[in-house]
Amino acid sequence: MAWKHKIIFTGLLSLISVQWTLSFSEEELDASYWNNKGNQALYNALNVQSNLHLAKNLILFLGDGMGVPTVTAARILKGQLAGKSGEETSLVMDTFPHLALSKTYNVDQQMPDSAGTATAYLCGVKANYGTLGVSASTPRNNCSATFGHEVESVLHRAKRAGKSVGIVTTTRVQHASPAANYAHSANRGWYGDSDLSDEAVQNGCRDIAYQLVHNTEINVILGGGRQYMFPTTVQDPEYPTYKGSRNDGQDLVKEWLKNKEDAKYVWNKADFDAVNPSKTNFLMGLFEPKDCRYELDRDASMDPSLTEMMEKAIKILNKNDKGFYLFVEDKSDCFLGRIDHGHHAGQAKKALYETVEFDRAIGRAAELTSELDTMTVVTADHSHVFAFGGYSARGNSVFGVSRELADDNKKFTTAVYGNGPGYVNGTRPDVNDSVSSDNEYRQQAPVPLGSETHGIEDVAIFAKGPMSHLFHGVQEQSYIAHAMAYAACVEPYVNCTLLPNYAGLIHPSLLLHLIGLLFLSLCSV
Ligand SMILES: *[C@@H]1O[C@H](CO)[C@@H](O)[C@H](O)[C@H]1NC(C)=O
Ligand SMILES: *[C@@H]1O[C@H](CO)[C@@H](O)[C@H](O)[C@H]1NC(C)=O
Ligand SMILES: *[C@@H]1O[C@H](CO)[C@@H](O)[C@H](O)[C@H]1NC(C)=O
Ligand SMILES: *[C@@H]1O[C@H](CO)[C@@H](O)[C@H](O)[C@H]1NC(C)=O
Ligand SMILES: [Zn+2]
Repeated sequence: MAWKHKIIFTGLLSLISVQWTLSFSEEELDASYWNNKGNQALYNALNVQSNLHLAKNLILFLGDGMGVPTVTAARILKGQLAGKSGEETSLVMDTFPHLALSKTYNVDQQMPDSAGTATAYLCGVKANYGTLGVSASTPRNNCSATFGHEVESVLHRAKRAGKSVGIVTTTRVQHASPAANYAHSANRGWYGDSDLSDEAVQNGCRDIAYQLVHNTEINVILGGGRQYMFPTTVQDPEYPTYKGSRNDGQDLVKEWLKNKEDAKYVWNKADFDAVNPSKTNFLMGLFEPKDCRYELDRDASMDPSLTEMMEKAIKILNKNDKGFYLFVEDKSDCFLGRIDHGHHAGQAKKALYETVEFDRAIGRAAELTSELDTMTVVTADHSHVFAFGGYSARGNSVFGVSRELADDNKKFTTAVYGNGPGYVNGTRPDVNDSVSSDNEYRQQAPVPLGSETHGIEDVAIFAKGPMSHLFHGVQEQSYIAHAMAYAACVEPYVNCTLLPNYAGLIHPSLLLHLIGLLFLSLCSV
């Protein structure tokens, strides 16, 4: 292999002679390389066929905050971690045949948040900023305006259709994105009862943790968020100084385990590893008091990775003949839910390592399921003001500096933020590769904000499996729930006219059909 073919260029135009190193495959110098590659991609495209069968299973991978610049940078990082230049690498999600763009705005805000967007892509209805599982008739914080305006998720409808359902996240399981699968709340911050406003208590609104165990019966719940499940008198098993945060004295884990057969609760990796999926129908695993740790900081002996959680979830859920619905979120905090949190902290390295782990989970899911009967959708709720550019040579480290100096004669990183804690007050400091590749490094930003903000531009939707061609063009984010519900013929599309799912095809009716065909072909000989 000609990887790492190195060419030293000397900057001819600059007065100071600048040298830089390019790193790519020698084949790329040849026109035939690109022509062959284009030709192969073209024939692949000509052979893409729509799968018009019913989807038995639905998997939604949600990269919280995973805008397109994040996808590009994570792709290059994945390649660089494998010792390549990186740009030419494919993420697993890059190989999905169908793509669309998603318009992410909330009803009342141009720049959306995870709650309003989750309501759109999970329930099919756009909502207000900060609200979840309710239509935009519910203003943020107004509990009394919740009633009568609840909207139901595809997870809930899939459960009603007899499927098994699960949520896996690297944040607290009560966090906005997973919560819109099962809760209705005028405020995404009402995690536990001690977080409710006086108005919410007076008007009878329940906290999100309470709704987690009392609304839809969910088969698999994996992530963080222990503290909202236990009373203030209960000490955390992992961090002795930490306690539960419930004022109502309820033990919601005990409540959840009640009246369930083959149900388990675990809080550490050893107990999680010991769970036998073939003997378990219900699993709740809460590995941190709040959000899970970043993939980069994860204690692998205590917390499972996103991929490990997802794998266990699929093995438990796919025992159901009627199929399953699984929501998997990498927010960039526990294992998968922390892309968003890394960006908010202005720390691209945390967000991008998380995105690579997210993609690994997508690849593992593909090994555990069949594209013939499983629709897999990968998308983001919103983007970030993360930008990636500058004069970087081929193979430049994702966390590296531009090869040219800025007008202040200092170097700059090619990954930057439009605002956030990386704000430079006064003279911009110089930076070099060793400084900018530190795990804790914050990329520079021109606007001072304690937390970097979400972006407003569209995010991508990647889809494969039955009916995945429904994902095309530029769509409202709320379209995602409609396309997924239709593909699986769940409410409101129970009368969809799809061919039976492939798994069902091996069953008696097909057998009769095949015998008939065989008979016909014998007769015609
Ligand atoms: C909350 O919603 C209720 C019912 O829609 C409405 O009557 C009330 O005025 C709202 N309260 C506030 C503070 O907006
Ligand atoms: C910038 O630095 C000055 C001088 O130290 C300080 O007064 C000011 O509050 C700082 N501004 C911000 C946004 O941090
Ligand atoms: C990078 O910058 C840091 C801080 O200014 C400095 O201590 C270090 O020696 C520099 N490293 C290189 C390789 O230039
Ligand atoms: C589906 O079809 C059945 C039988 O034709 C009908 O009774 C029912 O109302 C239809 N449901 C919907 C949601 O269209
Ligand atoms: Zn966010």
